Formats: sequence, C-alpha cells, structure tokens
Amino acid sequence: DTYKVGYFIGSLAAGSINRKLAKALVRLAPKHLEMEEISFRDLPLYSYDYDADFPPPARAFKQALASVDAILFVTPEYNRSIPGGLKNAIDWASRPYGTNSFTRKPSAVIGTSPGAIGTAVAQQSLRSVLSFCNSPQMNAPEAYIQFKPGLITDEGEVTNDDTAEFLRNYMAEFHAFVVRVYTVLPRGG
Ligand code: FNR
Repeated sequence: DTYKVGYFIGSLAAGSINRKLAKALVRLAPKHLEMEEISFRDLPLYSYDYDADFPPPARAFKQALASVDAILFVTPEYNRSIPGGLKNAIDWASRPYGTNSFTRKPSAVIGTSPGAIGTAVAQQSLRSVLSFCNSPQMNAPEAYIQFKPGLITDEGEVTNDDTAEFLRNYMAEFHAFVVRVYTVLPRGG
C-alpha cells in the first residue's frame, strides 16, 4: 500500500534550511510514501470568529490535510519554540471544534538548526501541541539535525553519507510507524 504524507515546513524564509531538509527527506523517503507539501503561507491569523465560515485558503488547507494519511513536521526552532506561522496553521487545522484535522492522524517531527541542539526544544514544544490534538506520534527515532554550511544542497542532496543514511532510516521508520498505526485505525477517518 502507498501512504500519502503531507509535510509542513515550519519556516517561510526563502533560504530556509528546513526546506532543504524537507527536500532531502522527500528524496530519501521509501517509495511507498507519497510526499506532498502542505503550505500554510496564505492563511490569515486565526481567530474563532472565522469558525462559522472559513475563508478559501483555510478551506483548501483543511482539505489538503484531509487528503493525506500522515503528517511530517519539518521545523526550525524560533526562540526555543516553533515559529508563529506554524502554530497559527496548527490552530486553523484544529478548528472548528469537532473537526480537528489532526485527530488520529499519525505524525512525526524533525528539524534543523545551525545550533548544536538542532531544534530539540522546539520539537518538544510541538510534541505537546500534537498530543493535545490527538495525533499518534512517532516517538523514535528522534532527529535533531545540526545544519553546517553545505550539508544539504538547494536541491535536497545530502553531502554527508552518515547524515544521508540517518535520514533515510528516519523515513523508513516513519513508514513503518504509519503502517503500524493503520493496522489499528481505519484509513480516511
Ligand atoms: C532563530 N534561530 C534559533 N536557533 C535555535 O537553534 N534556537 C532558537 O531558539 C532560535 N531562535 C531564533 C529566533 C528567530 C526569530 C530566528 C529568525 C532564528 C536561528 C535559526 O535556527 C536559523 O535562523 C535557521 O536558519 C532557521 O531555520 P530556517 O528558517 O532557515 O528553516
């Protein structure tokens, strides 16, 4: 079986190192994972005033989430948490009440930073949010990628063999996790 994975890139920056990481993960993913980006760039700032009538970008966003079997978060750490844009997107996805897009949708978290702890604190913070949103999360392997200049090219080619192997294994484990989740849960729910 093939599974569709929607990936979020937490950064909106043109030169985002997390976008490079996401490109690498797409290249290294097992062929049974069909990868597509879910963009949150066009979402307004969320308020529950929108709940009665979501604007078109928010509807498209919710539809994109409904169409995937699993979600991969590739995110930077901003001020020891996740970027505001990503949190805004998650808040949209969780609403209106009773239509939380994350519930029972398996997810995994990964990120890169030039700093040595490689987004660990942001990932921990994101995991709390995803727990509340009832997303079954891959616990292990964890992946805290310290970005050194040239580690991943703009096209997503990983220039260090050990890192490439680590990321390939991470995606293989994510595939195995998604398969396990759907032996218990119905798909398309
Ligand atoms: C950062 N950066 C950063 N790095 C980190 O390891 N921990 C942190 O808490 C922060 N905080 C932070 C706040 C803000 C507002 C910015 C702009 C940056 C540095 C960050 O890791 C670096 O800019 C990366 O390039 C961000 O990833 P993207 O956006 O390039 O994918």
